[in-house]
Amino acid sequence: MCGIVGFIGKRACTDVLIDALKRLEYRGYDSAGIAIFEDDKIKTVKAKGKIKEGLVEKLKSEPIFTAVCGIGHTRWATHGEPSDVNSHPIGNGRVSIVHNGIIENYREIKSFLIGKGYGFESETDTETVAKLLDYYYEGDPIEAIEKAVGVIQGAYALGIIFREHKNKIFAVRKDSPLIVGKGKGESFIASDITAIIEYTREYYCLERGEIATLDENGIHFTDLHGEAIEKELFTADWDVESAQKGGYEHFMLKEIHEQPDAVRNTISPRIKDGLPDFGECGLTAEKLRAYKHIFIVGCGSAMHSGMVGKYLIEDLARTPVIVDIASEFRYRNPLVSDGDLVVIVSQSGETADTLEALKLSKAKGADTLAVVNVVGSSIAREADMVIYTNAGPEISVCSTKAYAVQVAFMYLLAFEVAYARGRIDEARCKELVNGLTEVPEKIQECLNDLSIYQYVASKIFNADSLLYIGRGLDNALSMEGSLKLKEISYIHSESYAAGELKHGTISLIEDGTPVIAVMTQSSLFEKMLSNVRTVKSRGAKVVAICRAAENLDADCADYKVGLPEADDLFLPLISTVAMQLIAYYTAVQRGCDVDKPRNLAKSVTVE
Ligand code: G6P
Repeated sequence: MCGIVGFIGKRACTDVLIDALKRLEYRGYDSAGIAIFEDDKIKTVKAKGKIKEGLVEKLKSEPIFTAVCGIGHTRWATHGEPSDVNSHPIGNGRVSIVHNGIIENYREIKSFLIGKGYGFESETDTETVAKLLDYYYEGDPIEAIEKAVGVIQGAYALGIIFREHKNKIFAVRKDSPLIVGKGKGESFIASDITAIIEYTREYYCLERGEIATLDENGIHFTDLHGEAIEKELFTADWDVESAQKGGYEHFMLKEIHEQPDAVRNTISPRIKDGLPDFGECGLTAEKLRAYKHIFIVGCGSAMHSGMVGKYLIEDLARTPVIVDIASEFRYRNPLVSDGDLVVIVSQSGETADTLEALKLSKAKGADTLAVVNVVGSSIAREADMVIYTNAGPEISVCSTKAYAVQVAFMYLLAFEVAYARGRIDEARCKELVNGLTEVPEKIQECLNDLSIYQYVASKIFNADSLLYIGRGLDNALSMEGSLKLKEISYIHSESYAAGELKHGTISLIEDGTPVIAVMTQSSLFEKMLSNVRTVKSRGAKVVAICRAAENLDADCADYKVGLPEADDLFLPLISTVAMQLIAYYTAVQRGCDVDKPRNLAKSVTVE
């Protein structure tokens, strides 16, 4: 997903911009560029490909910059293929911009501007904004921005420079993220704090209808009419070290190992006297008793955490839960109304579809609860109530710890709904909460010896296709296990309810097809054994993920991944770690770019 940076200070800006752009690489991109003030001109250098091989190489053949102010961008192509010309910054020498988001009415704007004599070089929606700003510019940048944002529709975060306003950056946004960093004698704009945390921890969140002006005197905020406004300054408590790999080969592996702490950090602030407590965000027992329906909405791994939530809440609280993919939810006129609770789950808090699902839920009168990881993100700010999952920055595109903490939260939510609705008594609720607090230790046990995951990976890494099967909670958790494997190893993988296999998907099994059977639920164990035997007799190579103490016959599983002893309710959450590690080592053995899988973006801020 596109990344924006901008810098004004006293030192050479090129190094700062490149460094900040590299820190946004995790968002996924296919080209990068910068535009800086050099003498009385705007100089732009941009290139398709990775920053190191593309932009940095190109900069070597250009004169050395002494500029102190500029903007930069990593582009994730939406309108027009990845190419030098479609890369940002985009402009015409008088004005240059970097853009994240999608301009929905760009065709209309383009034909208007063509009618006014403008030519277009790129296929991007962004170029229409650059030229529109130029069209409106008559000497006052704020006035030009005000007019342009009155015309453009869609989502945008924009960093803008005007040749006639040397060493000044302007920023404006709607629906796409942008922060403004305040350093010592220098200022920044960035898509997120990770980009600039090396330089400052202090930042402002730019809101819709606000314009930030950054120059050598500091940062100045105005509304769209040029009236000055005061803004709250936030301080990021993430340290630089935690945003780096910390000795692990990949961020993904590091983040998998951070899960015991991450889960503790998520649950412990929400436990009071041994019971769940969501008082911090205003989600009271009274409210939980009164809600007519509970919806859980998200994308990707976040949605998968909702599937676990559904199983848990329905089982423990006997309350129906509707789980939906945000991109479907927002376009199918969902039956959400006043009196319902919509839980919006998102690691980044910026996913465009999820944000829109949230807005729709609010418009329909529902109470909204955001479960997000990034403090101050758009979804967190927009929702009625917020739970921060406290997992720390997740850099690997493939989500691991952020998913685990979302699931951990689902457990606590299920306990609280069940308790509030009188389905369990205080003693049982305390017992359940206590069980959850033991999960981090069990996850740690799974991390103490990694050899079994490496061994299993060595047996499956050559496969073209494989299946995950499970029942009950194992089915819900396997969806995520399968997604992990497919995301990073590029092996086709499907997760299937074990009992449903016989109605079609079993035809995919042939000699040697790996089947990963998740079998943690005692009450469903015998049923799973039958399913496993069925696939095995058709040639499947079975990897069973189950309690270490379980004795499996040779006619059943080829390989066993043993899990520590825990209650049936919690074992699926623990098994997640095993599935993540199998996916990780499989991808490593296939030589894949684990942290930056092809075609994927960490934060999908466009539809
Ligand atoms: C992208 C990421 C996924 C993530 C999904 C939702 O597709 O690659 O890992 O699960 O977005 O992201 P969110 O930030 O809303 O949880």
